[in-house]
Amino acid sequence: MSNLLNQSLGRYHILEQLGEGGMATVYKARDLNLERDVAVKVIRAENFGSAILERILKRFEREAKSLARLTHPNIVPILDYGETDGAPYLVMPYLPGGTLKGRLKGPIPYREAVQMLIPIAQALVHAHGQGIVHRDIKPSNILITRTGEPMLADFGIAKILDSEETRDLTSTGVGIGTPEYMAPEQGLGQADERADIYALGIVLYEMVTGRIPFRADTPMAILLKKNQEPLPRPSQFVSGLPASVENVLIKALARDPNYRYQTMQELLDALGRLGRDESVTVEMPREKKNSLWILAGIGGLIALAVCGIGLFAVGKLLASDSQPTESVPFTQPVPVSPIFTNPPAWTESPVQPPIINPTVTPAPPSQDQAGMVYIPEGEFRMGSDTETTKNFCKENHSNCDGFADASPQHTVFLSAFWIDKFEVTNSMFEKFINAKNYKTDAEKDGYGEVWEGGSSIVEDSQKVSGADWRHPTGPGSSISGLENHPVVQVSWRDAKLYCQWAGKRLPTEAEWEMAARGNSASYFPWGSEFNCQLGNYDDERNIDSFILENGSANCDGFARTAPVGSFLRGKSPYDLFDMSGNVWEWVADWYDKNYYLSSPSANPLGPSDGTMRVYRGGSWFSEMKYLYVPFRQANPPSYHDDITGFRCAANP
Ligand SMILES: Nc1ncnc2c1ncn2[C@@H]1O[C@H](COP(=O)(O)OP(=O)(O)OP(=O)(O)O)[C@@H](O)[C@H]1O
Ligand SMILES: [Mg+2]
Repeated sequence: MSNLLNQSLGRYHILEQLGEGGMATVYKARDLNLERDVAVKVIRAENFGSAILERILKRFEREAKSLARLTHPNIVPILDYGETDGAPYLVMPYLPGGTLKGRLKGPIPYREAVQMLIPIAQALVHAHGQGIVHRDIKPSNILITRTGEPMLADFGIAKILDSEETRDLTSTGVGIGTPEYMAPEQGLGQADERADIYALGIVLYEMVTGRIPFRADTPMAILLKKNQEPLPRPSQFVSGLPASVENVLIKALARDPNYRYQTMQELLDALGRLGRDESVTVEMPREKKNSLWILAGIGGLIALAVCGIGLFAVGKLLASDSQPTESVPFTQPVPVSPIFTNPPAWTESPVQPPIINPTVTPAPPSQDQAGMVYIPEGEFRMGSDTETTKNFCKENHSNCDGFADASPQHTVFLSAFWIDKFEVTNSMFEKFINAKNYKTDAEKDGYGEVWEGGSSIVEDSQKVSGADWRHPTGPGSSISGLENHPVVQVSWRDAKLYCQWAGKRLPTEAEWEMAARGNSASYFPWGSEFNCQLGNYDDERNIDSFILENGSANCDGFARTAPVGSFLRGKSPYDLFDMSGNVWEWVADWYDKNYYLSSPSANPLGPSDGTMRVYRGGSWFSEMKYLYVPFRQANPPSYHDDITGFRCAANP
């Protein structure tokens, strides 16, 4: 490649060279259109033959487009891409603060290291959520902004270059990643998000101890060490390093990916606790001898044997025992979920819904000690466009009049939050009543709205004297035996005060919807296929002709409310129960049918005033069509009936 200094690549005028890595040269350049400085990373192409280059260029274009969609405050964005003289290049913002590598001159206090890496872990949670694995996390890929913020660069570059074709070129010096930071299984070219967890673990290890754990002269020797030798204990290099820090490192750096943190969110949570100085205890499983992945890793190493180490070393590796890591007791607080007196129904689960984020603990401290789920920050599509609503109704034999307020569909960004895994139950609500000596609106009003169950089709509820949360349908009814059923006959006001007492708040309408189906377009929390065994809805009155195609009346197993958490297979992608069906759930927002036309794109809180509050998710009394996630309903804040309850949310 000819010298690019003072040349122009399209609108980018090359000013100076900023650095050079294994596969590319990075230049500072002037974007002549926008009159700003940028960094242009030109991939060195001279090592590739023309056939390989053509394929790389194609893959490059495809990847660049997908990477361009990755937007996060701690990810260096791709601004543009192109090709010069057969060499692909990427354009990104110019970051003048250097790299983390440049700043690492020795061990730094672990709190500082953790604070520095938390934003990087957040960036990775975001990327993993989009199915993008970084594959080459290391200090030189962590750039620093003018204000000292860390930003992760070079997403996906390793993937573009590391392939069958280029792997043959390892001996020529074209990288396959960076062996010091690479997870052992990456030797095979296998890298899921747990490879990023490992690499981030090495970066933390290096920051805290001032050294990388596995060093050797050749890439092959480093990988062999990673497979053969135990992790040198970080505390031997830093006196007084808390065991909690060491435990996080040991877990992140487990040789077998199955024994690491399984998601970046889990590592992020652990870092958060270290940063807050909470006691972090980590479950440390013992590694099994020669577990399957090691054999797989050996396959990868054999592929790498071209690097000069013979099969002798591999044979030796096969004979060696993997070192068991120490077992450290698990003392992390375990959340108290509502107690189930009845075993949940329908727990046989041949088809599990995708779990986006199985993190359930530890939730913020709360009076009701409900199990909560952490929903990481992110974007999702809220509402339903007219076409999708029509399709939903067509496919499900329903009439969807009244669904217009769910459009237009629009992108919403939400900061991270916690949300109750279950609807608030009668036994939980009772604690609040006792603690605050509280009288609900229904108790004060002396009546509750009651919707008739059974077989008749009713258009309207009736006011029944004496109906309240202890007597959901009137004085003759009771909640005895219904301790784990959702509380009903609670107004929006009651719900709000309960959450306040518990140290929480009601979720916003947007939070509720994000929690119900993530950023998927599925009709229901579990997916788009309706099945009468996935949620507690109204199959008794047989309004939906659809019901009988799947089962008989009462195919969900409950005529009225069900114990919370009864529908394992109906969970949302975030692991929440009963987001569709069982009881409608009050959310924080005022209702305005036109709100989606003008709502803000980040953390919308609903209209500033109104006469009705929104409730979501359908109930045991709803036809299937009201289980459609984007569907909205509203009632005055003092209204209470036997089909509406709530769950709470909290800030991290
Ligand atoms: N956006 C940027 N702004 C300013 N400097 C940058 C930017 N991107 C990269 N650099 C500089 O260019 C250097 C080379 O980057 P490059 O990504 O090519 O290599 P590397 O990360 O050091 O190693 P490898 O090739 O193994 O990934 C970096 O170390 C950094 O100093
Ligand atoms: Mg780099």
